[in-house]
Amino acid sequence: MLGCGGYLPDRIVTNAELAKQVETSDEWIIERTGIRERRVAAEGEKTSDLAIAASERALAKAGIGADALDMIIVATSTPDNTFPATATRVQAELGALKAWAFDQQAVCSGFVYALATADAYLRSGMAETALVIGAETFSRILDWEDRGTCVLFGDGAGAVVLRAEDGAGATSDRGILATDLNTDGRYADLLYVDGGPSSTQTVGKLRMHGREVFRHAIVNLAETAEKVIERAGVDASDVDWIVPHQANIRIIAGTAKKLGVPMDRVVVTVDRHGNTSAASIPLALVDAVESGRIKPGELLLMEAMGGGMTWGAALVRW
Ligand SMILES: CC(C)(COP(=O)(O)OP(=O)(O)OC[C@H]1O[C@@H](n2cnc3c(N)ncnc32)[C@H](O)[C@@H]1OP(=O)(O)O)[C@@H](O)C(=O)NCCC(=O)NCCS
Repeated sequence: MLGCGGYLPDRIVTNAELAKQVETSDEWIIERTGIRERRVAAEGEKTSDLAIAASERALAKAGIGADALDMIIVATSTPDNTFPATATRVQAELGALKAWAFDQQAVCSGFVYALATADAYLRSGMAETALVIGAETFSRILDWEDRGTCVLFGDGAGAVVLRAEDGAGATSDRGILATDLNTDGRYADLLYVDGGPSSTQTVGKLRMHGREVFRHAIVNLAETAEKVIERAGVDASDVDWIVPHQANIRIIAGTAKKLGVPMDRVVVTVDRHGNTSAASIPLALVDAVESGRIKPGELLLMEAMGGGMTWGAALVRW
């Protein structure tokens, strides 16, 4: 990984502000989710705008120009339009005209899915340099009258630049060491958007059975994490940082506990960002890299679960 960058919209929405709109409280939200505030995109600010801003920062950190990119994946469930892919606008605005670009949709697991996809392209030799972005404007698909969901999500984008390099085949190699992806479509009704071009011809709103999602989360996340750890031939005690999807502090802490990783080795941004779906892992990564907590050579475990139901993990040496 050559570099990462993130972007958050300016507008901060606190729990206190939400408590004026729906029957909730700062205390309830903090206690049940760990969220204190989230960002909301400005009127007219699109998912692609957030993605472009994050990508420009990631490219600058990577020290390469957009013309070096072979491929761009935008992981998103809140695209600008039904089509073309949000990634096409990102490609054009960045001036990455050599790159093919497409969106990938695995909801909150989107970044892990996109990372695994880019990894496969790089390993196959089809691409040498890839830009992987998680970008969302979930504020646009929330039912702002449903207190069970509107307090949970936020907007933002994060991006990473990947370049294929020969490794020694050892666990000390830098980059993506192992990935694991899972889907169980039988649970699609637990977390979904009740609209779409082919069903209702509307955008729809997010619907969730929170308690049920919660029930699946820790078991699935610990399982996929254990799989990548085993696949890479390392031990859970070798993991320097968990960089988890930021849905709920209780899910983050429960998964870390199951893996035996102490909370001071877990990157937490859910308090400030809420759940930014596919953007949450790269935003957490940027937060920890830019604050100097994650250092080159450290072993990172990324894990996520989302609508679909989808879940997965990636083990990355930074
Ligand atoms: C949504 C979530 C925070 C709710 O917490 P919970 O402890 O499971 O709470 P429950 O859903 O059991 O609801 C308990 C009560 O709180 C109420 N409640 C829900 N949201 C509330 C809010 N924002 N403020 C106050 N009360 C709220 C419910 O109406 C319910 O009241 P009732 O018992 O009178 O019906 C929790 O289920 C969760 O985080 N689930 C996972 C969601 C998630 O991460 N999704 C994204 C995955 S990518």
